[in-house]
Amino acid sequence: MTTKKLFILAGDGIGPEVMAQVQRVIDWMAKKRHIAFDVAEGLIGGASYDRFGHPLTDETMQDIFAADAVLLGAVGGPKWDSLPFELKPERGLLRLRKDLELFANLRPAFVFDALVDASSLKPELVKGLDIMIVRELTGGVYFGQPRGIETLPNGERRGVNTQVYTTSEIVRIADVAFDLAKKRHNRVHSVEKANVMESGVLWREEVQKLHDAKFPGIELQHMYADNCAMQLVRAPKQFDVIVTDNLFGDILSDCAAMLTGSLGMLPSASLGAADANGHRKAVYEPVHGSAPDIAGKDIANPLATLLSFAMMLRYSFDMMDEAELLERAVKNVLDGGLRTGDIMQTGKAKVSTTVMGESIVREMDKLAG
Ligand code: IPM
Ligand code: MG
Repeated sequence: MTTKKLFILAGDGIGPEVMAQVQRVIDWMAKKRHIAFDVAEGLIGGASYDRFGHPLTDETMQDIFAADAVLLGAVGGPKWDSLPFELKPERGLLRLRKDLELFANLRPAFVFDALVDASSLKPELVKGLDIMIVRELTGGVYFGQPRGIETLPNGERRGVNTQVYTTSEIVRIADVAFDLAKKRHNRVHSVEKANVMESGVLWREEVQKLHDAKFPGIELQHMYADNCAMQLVRAPKQFDVIVTDNLFGDILSDCAAMLTGSLGMLPSASLGAADANGHRKAVYEPVHGSAPDIAGKDIANPLATLLSFAMMLRYSFDMMDEAELLERAVKNVLDGGLRTGDIMQTGKAKVSTTVMGESIVREMDKLAG
């Protein structure tokens, strides 16, 4: 038996209930494939605040550092909205990204054939859509200094954030994007606002330089972020890999996610630099949030979390067969007509979170023979 240390942070809202469906897959792997995950769990976000008074504690961080990979649910909710900024659930997530140096956030926007009609765009615009957004995750305006809110001598208040990127930060994320493009369709769109921002000018120059020196065979186009938002809803299939900064990536990935029918379908991987053994620190999480309005009702879509687990199998554990098996099970279950509420269509069968999870495992069983 191979052992893999997996740390689960279910978080808030629908986090725990979608994560419970991953546990079914983990159990299946142990039973049917003799793959034992050494699973530990911890708290993050509001759940951690309620218990420890902080959205991510040092003790939990230590456990996380000892793990091979982390699977995260979601953080946040109205219950914690009035907390001081530094104690808000989101700060736990941002600390996790920063402390593990997870600079590369991979957000694939992939449209399953069965869900073509669930998209808000016309079917012909999204059928076959397969975009990879590579979002820089540990720099830019999310972390730039100075930041804060100050009171001016005249009594007015002033809020400041700083958009900042260094050459090495740009080069390492662009390198990830070009590398991925090589395994896909050899096209990269690099997205910034070089028409307005110096950090965007630098971004454009460094991406171009890296391209010319190391990836001349890849088709590179530069695009302003506003235009990219427009193109994503006008003709999304023109994109293969999009590489962009932290804030633009946050916005554009929500937009791209919606093209696929529901935020509830989209997985993500956040990766650090490879160490001497080629191993990267990694956190896998659905792109959707904690959805407090539907939490605890057993109606949330667990597929984004299950697909995040599949990304983990692929990127952290090199378990390509198992990743494909899980992804194929998702596809087949959708083809078979099962839907959670967020992707419900007329003529399909509406199922709960639990039934969706059970159906995926049953399908894996069938596929594995
Ligand atoms: C995301 C989320 C986070 C972000 C929030 C919850 C801090 O929107 O992962 O896209 O802005 O990065
Ligand atoms: Mg976001």
